[in-house]
Amino acid sequence: MLAPTPPMGWNSWNTFGGNLHESLVRETADAFVAQGLKAAGYQYVVIDDGWQTDERGVDGRLVPDPAKFPNGIKALSAYIHSKGLKFGIYSCAGSFTCMGKPASYGYEEIDARTFAEWDVDFLKYDFCYKPAGADGIMLYARMGQELRATGRPIVYNVCEWGINEPWKWAASVGAHLWRTTGDIADSWESIEKIGFGQAGLEAYAGPDHWNDPDMLTVGMYGSGNVAHGGCTDEEYRTHFSLWCLLASPLMLGCDVRSMNEATRAILLNPRLIAINQDPLGRQGFLIERQREYYETWMKPLADGSIAVGLFNRDVSPRKMIAAWASLRLHDRTCCEVVDAWSGESLGVHDRAYAAEVPPHGVNLFHITPVKA
Ligand code: GLA
Repeated sequence: MLAPTPPMGWNSWNTFGGNLHESLVRETADAFVAQGLKAAGYQYVVIDDGWQTDERGVDGRLVPDPAKFPNGIKALSAYIHSKGLKFGIYSCAGSFTCMGKPASYGYEEIDARTFAEWDVDFLKYDFCYKPAGADGIMLYARMGQELRATGRPIVYNVCEWGINEPWKWAASVGAHLWRTTGDIADSWESIEKIGFGQAGLEAYAGPDHWNDPDMLTVGMYGSGNVAHGGCTDEEYRTHFSLWCLLASPLMLGCDVRSMNEATRAILLNPRLIAINQDPLGRQGFLIERQREYYETWMKPLADGSIAVGLFNRDVSPRKMIAAWASLRLHDRTCCEVVDAWSGESLGVHDRAYAAEVPPHGVNLFHITPVKA
């Protein structure tokens, strides 16, 4: 299995768009090590759209833009590997990428071979400029087949924005993760729409095949390519909590070379990451929604404990209750409740636990049944 737990890493798009340079990517890999991201489990360094020149080479191959990657892609991938990290790249199933660069339609074999020769470990495969009449699912199957034919293990990220319900077929064409939605923006509205909109897709995810609700915007604060006003730290905590409960891939979108303390505290929280990376691989699911604003989500974990999120989408604080019965536990069960963000034990409780949840906030608990 290439992705037994949700892939963790960084992707250039959210902050940098097409403004790529090999020094940025190398410095990002350096920051993975220096900032503790690598030690926390973040592994893939992925360059998104904009790495290519406008024309293929005479040999039919994609060509890295020499102004951005003067040493080529293979040298960059070697550098990333020398740090003990993995390297990902981007292409598209249509004739052009979303930025209008040459894409892989009709060139699947040579592109897959080129990526394998560059020691690529991860391919994000987008959906712009699909020729009319071409079947989208077939195009993803074709690239899946060509990736397998290279013999190199390459994590395959289908990115067709949920159009053809990829949760129903993408695993069967070899995908390890598939985007379920359009692009995220760095705003509370976008996070809310995409994140809470994942309810109902949980049965399709598991080890080696994950729903992908797009990359994180934590730490962007309204600057960068998908800027849209930005979020508060409270909202970023909610964003990260939800993506962890969803067993979502954790692909960072901020500039990891310059994270502030609040951002580091969110993205490096070991208890949150453990919930996301739990080996059972269950995607968290909605168990209760009240008056469209107050949502309770749970994620069963491998050791029999449960991660529970009480989410308040409203603009004022709200007392919310996690009742054991709604968590599929007998209500006489005694459970130890631990605050997942702080690690602090909140004691042993029967029947339920109540908490005041801040606006746009979450209280995330780890609940472990214990003997009475
Ligand atoms: C699409 C994808 C984004 C990004 C851009 C690049 O919009 O959904 O994630 O890859 O293309 O052009």
